[in-house]
Amino acid sequence: MARRSPSGDDQSFAALRSFIAQHRNPFAFVTVVRAVAGALPALHPYFLAEFATSIDEPDRAGRFLFLLFITGFVHFVLWTVCDYFVSVKINPLTYEFKRLMFDTVWSEDYQRFVDRPSGKVASFVNDTRAHVQSLWDSLHYGFLTVLASIPVYVVLLWTTAPGNAIVYVVFLVGAGVVLAVVAGPVNARQRLLTNNTATNTGRVFDSFSNFVNVFSFRAHHKEIERNDEQLDGLIVDDIRFGLALTTYWGVASLLVRGLLWAAVMGFSWYQFDRGSISFTAMIVSVTVLLDFTNRYWEVVHHLGEWIDRSAAYREAYTYLFPGWNIVTDPVDSPAPVDSPTSASVSAIGATSATDEPSSGRLLHSIEVRNLRFAYPDEPDRLVLDGVSFTVRRGERLGIVGRSGEGKSTLIKILLGFYQPTSGEVLVDGRTVGPAELAALQSYVPQDTSLFQETVEYNIGYAEPGPADPKQIRRAAEQANIADFIESLPDGFQTMVGERGIKLSLGQRQRIAIARAFLKKSDLVILDEATSALDSETEARIQESLVELWEGRAAIVIAHRLATLNDVDRIVVIEGGRVAEQGSKDDLLASAGRFAEMWGLQRAGLH
Ligand SMILES: Nc1ncnc2c1ncn2[C@@H]1O[C@H](COP(=O)(O)OP(=O)(O)O)[C@@H](O)[C@H]1O
Ligand SMILES: [Mg+2]
Repeated sequence: MARRSPSGDDQSFAALRSFIAQHRNPFAFVTVVRAVAGALPALHPYFLAEFATSIDEPDRAGRFLFLLFITGFVHFVLWTVCDYFVSVKINPLTYEFKRLMFDTVWSEDYQRFVDRPSGKVASFVNDTRAHVQSLWDSLHYGFLTVLASIPVYVVLLWTTAPGNAIVYVVFLVGAGVVLAVVAGPVNARQRLLTNNTATNTGRVFDSFSNFVNVFSFRAHHKEIERNDEQLDGLIVDDIRFGLALTTYWGVASLLVRGLLWAAVMGFSWYQFDRGSISFTAMIVSVTVLLDFTNRYWEVVHHLGEWIDRSAAYREAYTYLFPGWNIVTDPVDSPAPVDSPTSASVSAIGATSATDEPSSGRLLHSIEVRNLRFAYPDEPDRLVLDGVSFTVRRGERLGIVGRSGEGKSTLIKILLGFYQPTSGEVLVDGRTVGPAELAALQSYVPQDTSLFQETVEYNIGYAEPGPADPKQIRRAAEQANIADFIESLPDGFQTMVGERGIKLSLGQRQRIAIARAFLKKSDLVILDEATSALDSETEARIQESLVELWEGRAAIVIAHRLATLNDVDRIVVIEGGRVAEQGSKDDLLASAGRFAEMWGLQRAGLH
């Protein structure tokens, strides 16, 4: 895809930085206010030490007590303002980020959806929002407050016990290096864990959504075993991750309790003993140490959280959008394609006389010219190897061929799901883009999967905007399903279940046909659209189909050859090519492939 950088670099954090830059004002506000609020309590050890050593000076003691109180209070006010601001302005931005991810996933082409398990993609899109939230929390609550306090500590110590200030600086640099090294394995293991967890989430989703398969083969044990295997693997990943994390915490703990405490306490005592620092300075050093240790735990905690979440975020982001900064290189949300309105369809007779090419319309003919195609994952296997034919307006073309010969593939190209490897699809003599191809046709697929929504919603899906319930009802009547829908307890408001499971396959096919009636486009494509119906219903639908394609162009893939009585011409696909082409009578007379298939079906062998 052109948007992605050819190097396929990891753009995960670049995207996050760009996102923050886009919303820099609210982020800058919280950063500044939170930093001031976070730095104020760092003065407390100093005020406390001064207060505690003012035994004989009540004025001085009172002054430092007041300073303690007022800095604490200002801290509270600023911190609370920040929290409110974060709730109202910053946290909602994580949803903006999720929205951007969702929209960007929808901008990708068909093959990306074929290639990636939907459950995994869904789990990554859903989880990433929480990761981003956690990263921001760590930045603000963990790192920022400590970063803001460090200069305060250093100045305090420098003015009271300069030797200790040096000890802290050396410690901070050294601990930073050591912790970064120890964090490496934590990061690597977290990424592995995240990826495998998302794979498992996808599997769990796949498992439950295939419950019909599971029940029909009584294969519950297979699902349980497969899940057990993945969970066993996940447990190992999690233990490894846990060990790396515990090591990280252990090292962090050792550094402060073993090293820093010994150094600061020992060195302070040594200096006080030698008389080079005052008693107050020694108290400041030790109280700073205690305060610093508390904050250090905060940082170590947030650093652990940061490593954890940043690895998870990076893994999810690079899986979804490798080498692509979706913030600086966003997509325009795909505009709905306009289908011709009913008015323009009823005026077909008038408009078809003009030669003006018109978007979303088929005025004369659609031509497939020398189409070759191989699926991207198998570029050497040509599924279509030079297919050509033309369908004129008002003409009905039947396509037949054995299963797996590439009929549905041809339709996917006509629908603009795939670009042909070579050759072209011309609409009224022009090449058109995928959106326009999609706009000019109504498609009734081989296997209709529905949204877990109402019947009305599912039929109305064919309209770019909200659909009129009256038109939906009319379309349902034309597809011969209105009576059935009205016999349901909630009529058109009945929920169809996941993927339409509460409806029979034939009913789902009729809903798909109703959609085609609703969309009223110039080209109707039916891919074995009545294969799940009994012959009687099929015969009734066949009548309405004649109405559906009246005055338009139609491409009909037929499994039952008997349903081809109403087509004008038949194309036989074999070995990725057009083996025969002609009217039904001509093909029967020429005693070729079609005649053979016809004979087999007549004899009831097929
Ligand atoms: N998304 C895909 N990726 C790779 N190969 C595919 C894909 N879809 C279908 N195929 C292969 O393309 C060939 C033609 O399939 P199809 O067009 O569905 O046949 P049919 O004529 O039965 O409709 C088959 O061999 C099938 O395995
Ligand atoms: Mg097919």
